[in-house]
Amino acid sequence: MRTGPGAAILLWMSDREFDARRGASPGAGDRLEALLGLLGAEARRHLGELDSRPVRAPDPTSLVSASGFSGALPDEGNGTLAALEELIEGARVGLVASAGPRFFHLVVGGTTDAALGADWLVSLWDQIAASPLTSPLAVHLEELSIAWLRELFELPPGAGVLTTGGHGANLIGLLAARQWWGERHGRDVSEHGLTGLPPMPVLSSGLVHASAVKALAQLGLGRRAVQRCAADTSGRLDLGALEAALIALEGAPAVLIGNAGDVNTGAFDPLDAMADLAARYGAWLHVDGAFGLFARVSPRTRALAAGAERAQSIASDCHKWLNVPYDCGVAFIEDRRLLLRANKLVADYLPRDLEAPQEGAPRRGAVLSNIALESSRRARGLPVWATLRALGRSGMRDLVERSLDHAARLAAAVDAAPDLERLAPVPLDVVPLNVVCFRAHPPGARKRDLDALNERLAQAILDDGRVFLGVTRFAGRVALRAAFVNHRTRPEDVDLAVAVTRELLAALS
Ligand SMILES: Cc1ncc(COP(=O)(O)O)c(C=O)c1O
Repeated sequence: MRTGPGAAILLWMSDREFDARRGASPGAGDRLEALLGLLGAEARRHLGELDSRPVRAPDPTSLVSASGFSGALPDEGNGTLAALEELIEGARVGLVASAGPRFFHLVVGGTTDAALGADWLVSLWDQIAASPLTSPLAVHLEELSIAWLRELFELPPGAGVLTTGGHGANLIGLLAARQWWGERHGRDVSEHGLTGLPPMPVLSSGLVHASAVKALAQLGLGRRAVQRCAADTSGRLDLGALEAALIALEGAPAVLIGNAGDVNTGAFDPLDAMADLAARYGAWLHVDGAFGLFARVSPRTRALAAGAERAQSIASDCHKWLNVPYDCGVAFIEDRRLLLRANKLVADYLPRDLEAPQEGAPRRGAVLSNIALESSRRARGLPVWATLRALGRSGMRDLVERSLDHAARLAAAVDAAPDLERLAPVPLDVVPLNVVCFRAHPPGARKRDLDALNERLAQAILDDGRVFLGVTRFAGRVALRAAFVNHRTRPEDVDLAVAVTRELLAALS
């Protein structure tokens, strides 16, 4: 391997030639130093202020429009450093501090230093996590990361693959489920398609996430394939209705979607009971545990996700509670061969590896493009591996439990505030997880005015920018919600969320 200044010259040769043609030719070493200096300064500035800066400017969209990123494609480029300086300067106004400690909307993790560093190396090394031919390192670290995640979540051995996020993981899990279902009907769907088959029965609770529904649409099964067996307007599973639906199928294969962590409230379906039904009626159980699978990391909440280990496929996210940079999710699939049949990528110039052994057998590195959604892939295993290596099991448990504490703190503050009202315990009457759903309900306010009041409050919080709470609907009512997964969040950030909400509510009322 070539190192030292010679390597730098090689690295920058093309840019140097480019600049020489434009009449400006600093030395290659100087250029590399200048680039690292620029990026280092921006990293110091950004990370230094991430904990204290507003989450969002009042109107970032118009700021971005006014930032100078406009006009037609330039005929002449301005060179590497100038372009990057322009990017850094122009980006400042429009950045949303979603990786910061007070972005409570959606379910958004920050980045641990280990993950961030590894992610920088991913771009630096530019590895292709497709096969051992393109990068044995990327393949090995992805497989090791998945094995470690299985250990972290106490899942049995099996296959897995990193994805772009929870949606990608739901798509892969349901793709495997569709292949299984087709084969139960004597059809290899990956070869012959769906034509002539009956609709695939998909049964879930009212908690089923939009991304699983979208995955069903993308798989040609239809958004309407899913039958929601909900007990009430909170979406809670009606187990009796689920069993009745399975009985009505008279032995035809079906797919159950169990939800581990509802985005509105953190609520869980009873996964163990769903696994029992799946076993009894010969159904496939897919679990969407985008963030809820992490309940298994702490003894305080492990029981919530009991039964996930019995699922045939599980979707989870790494850019949420694992705190690796966007984007990264993970799908765990029990049967690797089934996934290979569903997802193989066949061409004369590509490696085959269609008979890869099950986990546990000696391996020479898998062809990940045969099981992943994409062919060419970013080396997402590096930040996942670095996070797990840096934090270990105990560090992950600490990260998860701090989030649990934040949710409990917010729930207690909401309960104590006379003008706020919790809409769902965290979650529904069980052990608190990491999401709190609540709304403003000032004394004397008329019930019919509360939705409009909470809409205005949510907008006021967004415009204020000190914290970012989400707005949603829970059981038909407009609600605010906060999800805690970011390792940067401190108790004072939670207190600020309550203070800002009540201050702005007082101003509105
Ligand atoms: C339960 C659940 N499933 C799936 C997803 C989709 O994940 P992603 O946005 O990473 O694709 C989310 C996102 O919040 C989620 O909460």
